Amino acid sequence: MSSAAPDRNEVEPLIETVELRTHFRTPRGIARAVDGVTLQIRRGQSLGVVGESGSGKTVLSRSIMGLLPRNGVIREGSVRYGGEEIGNRTPKQMRSIWGREMAMVFQDPMTSLNPVMKVGKQVTESLRLHLGMSSSEAMAVAEKIFRDVRIPEPTRRLNQYPHELSGGMRQRVMIAIALACGPNMLFADEPTTALDVTVQAQILDLLSEQIRDRNMSMLLVTHNLGVVAGYTDEIAVMYGGKVVERAPTKVLFSNVKMPYTEALLQSIPRMNQPSHSRLAMIPGRPPDLVNPPTGCRFAPRCAYARDVCVREEPPLVQAETPDHTFACHFPVGSAEYHERRVELNRASTTTAEVL
Ligand SMILES: Nc1ncnc2c1ncn2[C@@H]1O[C@H](COP(=O)(O)OP(=O)(O)OP(=O)(O)O)[C@@H](O)[C@H]1O
Ligand SMILES: [Mg+2]
Repeated sequence: MSSAAPDRNEVEPLIETVELRTHFRTPRGIARAVDGVTLQIRRGQSLGVVGESGSGKTVLSRSIMGLLPRNGVIREGSVRYGGEEIGNRTPKQMRSIWGREMAMVFQDPMTSLNPVMKVGKQVTESLRLHLGMSSSEAMAVAEKIFRDVRIPEPTRRLNQYPHELSGGMRQRVMIAIALACGPNMLFADEPTTALDVTVQAQILDLLSEQIRDRNMSMLLVTHNLGVVAGYTDEIAVMYGGKVVERAPTKVLFSNVKMPYTEALLQSIPRMNQPSHSRLAMIPGRPPDLVNPPTGCRFAPRCAYARDVCVREEPPLVQAETPDHTFACHFPVGSAEYHERRVELNRASTTTAEVL
């Protein structure tokens, strides 16, 4: 039920960040948690943001929402929503956007839901506050949303407290609250990691169905590339506060460029893998964001790195595939990559023979 003209939606991204830099004051110095991120999310588009723990995914999404902790600040760059600058707004000014325009679903519903308020009231409060509905109007809408997110027996559930619901049901309530005021943009930060695997898939299916039906945009944050594969149009891969590769989802899986992305792909758990088997982990530690290494931040851990990688930061460049950018001196497929690959294979064969 969008009132904006369609042609405007096509030319203008719903969300746009330009060279966004978010810093934190820490006892050791300034941590550059988001370090020059430029991205766009169009209306109706789902963007997956993936990367290891500490790569800046949550800080990036919280910077866009204007929900940073006290010691964090947008130091440079811009955040636009529907073409309007919002990066410099105060929390008070952002309040009219939260809920109505942008909503969020977090990892643990228990910490976001009010434990002493019935879940129905938590939905209706939001409707009354943001849309000025009366109690009875809000209750009718809440019941409908509970049905939309497939909460069985919605009338009974509306009168229950969070602790009376299962983890999956609580996450459905969170999604209902997020969708209630008809926002354009949904932020979902690891929305299913606290749930077991079958429930995870149900919740992600539900989220993507609702996003599609409502023509909403979504930023889905996760450390698991396997999770975003089926639920996003595009993927941005973060490392050390930067986007190091970005591509339409299918392209990323078929034509990966950054050895870091390739390593993340190798660490996706496979359905046919025994649950106790070890996943390929990327050796080494993520970069220190207070004193980041010069050159490519992944170089100290990259099997394909050469001298230049440690000296010079690779710029983001366009791949041969459309809408695909990456930052790497010796990407997957380059002659240097192949040369090193052959050396690595030879070394591992020799080691296997010795053992
Ligand atoms: N409140 C804070 N105070 C100081 N530094 C912070 C704070 N929050 C985040 N940071 C810094 O920002 C970096 C990125 O944090 P962020 O929470 O965005 O990581 P993430 O990619 O979401 O990781 P995870 O997968 O574990 O959720 C951290 O490594 C840390 O250096
Ligand atoms: Mg996070």
